[in-house]
Amino acid sequence: MPFQTHILTEAARPLENRGDLEPLRSLIDQYREVRSATAALCEPLAPEDCVIQSMPDASPTKWHLAHTSWFFEEFVLRAHARDYRSYDDAFSYLFNSYYEAVGPRHERPHRGLLSRPTVQQTFAYRAYVDEQMLELLNGGGETSDLARIVTLGLHHEQQHQELLLTDIKHALSCNPLLPAYTQDSAFAGGKAPLPLSFIEIDGGLVEAGRNADQNADRGFDGFAFDNESPRHRTYLQPFKLANRLVTNGEFREFMADGGYRHAEFWLSDGWATVQREQWTRPIYWQDSLEREFTLLGLRKLDPNAPVCHLSYYEADAYARWREARLPTEFEWEHAASGARERARIAAGNFVDNRNWHPVAADAAGALSDRKDMAARKDMVNRTDTAREHLVQMFGDVWEWTQSAYSPYPGFVTAAGAIGEYNGKFMVSQLVLRGGSCVTPRSHIRPTYRNFFYPTARWQFSGVRLAKDA
Ligand SMILES: [Fe+2]
Repeated sequence: MPFQTHILTEAARPLENRGDLEPLRSLIDQYREVRSATAALCEPLAPEDCVIQSMPDASPTKWHLAHTSWFFEEFVLRAHARDYRSYDDAFSYLFNSYYEAVGPRHERPHRGLLSRPTVQQTFAYRAYVDEQMLELLNGGGETSDLARIVTLGLHHEQQHQELLLTDIKHALSCNPLLPAYTQDSAFAGGKAPLPLSFIEIDGGLVEAGRNADQNADRGFDGFAFDNESPRHRTYLQPFKLANRLVTNGEFREFMADGGYRHAEFWLSDGWATVQREQWTRPIYWQDSLEREFTLLGLRKLDPNAPVCHLSYYEADAYARWREARLPTEFEWEHAASGARERARIAAGNFVDNRNWHPVAADAAGALSDRKDMAARKDMVNRTDTAREHLVQMFGDVWEWTQSAYSPYPGFVTAAGAIGEYNGKFMVSQLVLRGGSCVTPRSHIRPTYRNFFYPTARWQFSGVRLAKDA
């Protein structure tokens, strides 16, 4: 990239004289790491790539770079830094996303019209915010309130790292040259496919979500968004969950059987969308159904890799065609939680793996994982044993659930502008779980609730089937 991306590889301020403030020292390290990771994602891009907006739902790379900095400026520096002087007063109008309490803003569909500030100036804005943030965090006046809002800002930035990639993928797909985002991939390919099976999981009274006071002061790794709270009880009937994600090859069978042409597989709104938008295949598949556009450019479709970039309607139609259904978010969370959740997240295909695309479930890998699990004495009850057989629960693709994105019982919207972060979107959207191949690994957990409208196709979203037991 022919401009300075300001990667924070060195300390901008000395870290000495911090006395007993060890927890915030790690927050400073997390700040450097997350902010640098955003800049690193821009390394393969040219300035021209960073300014275009391919559709109203997607934002230019440059806007993501600026908006994530604006978040720290608006919610951290203005509130906590003494005599803070904003970098440019006009930026609040340009880079406020949706916070009514903060003030008016530039409309989202027109973000691609902002040729100024330039990409170079946007990186200078980031550098200014970083300098001010590190001065604040090193200044010794931190409080738990400050730590909490900085931690929220870092997880917010990680969300935008994923959006930056999903949005640039869509933008590049609109170019007839179909340019690759990068050729630098760790993907080796060629795994032996894992046969599909359904795993029976006990129902009963289970707990879901996280308590807000579980999150407080637990730092970056203990963080959860407010929409994951409060932890509460819910009743599950016994159910069956597919051991792995639905593959491209399996989705192609649905298409060969006239999947996009028969109304009986579709929800009414879904069928209307298919007709209106003239959907005949997943968004990045070529006409031949043999190749798909990826962040690595046009690639041969791997029949064993998870099908990706499906809307809720496509995921639901496929499940109906297979005489199955989508899981609820509570079934998914119950299946994903437990003694091995950290190990499962560690094994997932996330952006850290630099595959930039979902990969096939590995029969050999799943087998060795099960042997390892069988050797563990803490796997004693039926549900834990059943969970041994589930692979790809974390990473690869976000898994659509049939659950409406609604507040949990007892959910309280936070006071002030920050209360607009999640709560006001709790209608008309569906919950997705588990993270994707462009999610940062440190961003995900079993209680994480992502949410999108049922027509959304440009996220890395796919299907895991469920059935009633
Ligand atoms: Fe945002």
